Amino acid sequence: MKKKLMAVIMSVIMTGSMLAGCGSAAGGAAEGGAKETLTVGTNAAFPPFEYVGDDGKPDGFDMALIKAVGDKIGMEVQIQDMEFDSLVSSIGGKIDVAIAGMTVTEERQKTVDFSDSYYEAVQAVIVPKGSSVASADDLKNLKIGVQLGTTGEFIADEIEGVEVSAYNKAVDAVNDLINGRVDCVIVDKNPAEVFGAQFSDKVDVLSGTDFDFEPEFYAIALPKGNTELADKINGALKELKEDGTYDKLVKQYIEE
Ligand code: ARG
Repeated sequence: MKKKLMAVIMSVIMTGSMLAGCGSAAGGAAEGGAKETLTVGTNAAFPPFEYVGDDGKPDGFDMALIKAVGDKIGMEVQIQDMEFDSLVSSIGGKIDVAIAGMTVTEERQKTVDFSDSYYEAVQAVIVPKGSSVASADDLKNLKIGVQLGTTGEFIADEIEGVEVSAYNKAVDAVNDLINGRVDCVIVDKNPAEVFGAQFSDKVDVLSGTDFDFEPEFYAIALPKGNTELADKINGALKELKEDGTYDKLVKQYIEE
């Protein structure tokens, strides 16, 4: 009898400690004070949402937002910079969640869940100065540069007669545009504007209704089925909107 009870107790203790050791995304602050880690994947080549700061560390709107989320839910955010194209498949493995100006798409939703959206975006077209490209029709049959695995790539792939070159970083596509290897680059509007300002003597940034790009919604990608974590993160996002932190970060990083 006693032996059996011991076995039950042991198994309860073991299950408990196994759960505790199993992935950092499972709970909030660990009991006893030490903060649990939330490992967050990003691709820090997408200003103003994420870029490598002067100190060599990832910085930008998304980085500030996820740190604020971490503070709200009592978790220590640890950023892991990787290729955009491998973020979704790394969730639940190398990383717990991803924040990377990532658009909610049906395809991605087959593999991951998304938090509530935190930003509305749209694609833009970067062209060399003096280019005659002005509308969706003009994109046909062009050589188009995109970032690998992004919605810009998926959109470019649908345009008639085009030759699409996919780069690991959007800025590499912009460099090839400047070198004349592609005719235009399709990338999200905010980064397009940053690149446009960076190379203002060489490129123009086009966006707007002439291109019929659909609105896109950025959200944090989450492990599929982890509603506990999703609820916590959504709760934190809501609080950050209500307490003015979100607006402050938009002003600081996006509208400055
Ligand atoms: N919004 C686009 C997408 O979800 C591009 C995101 C690229 N983000 C990045 N950090 N490189 O596909």
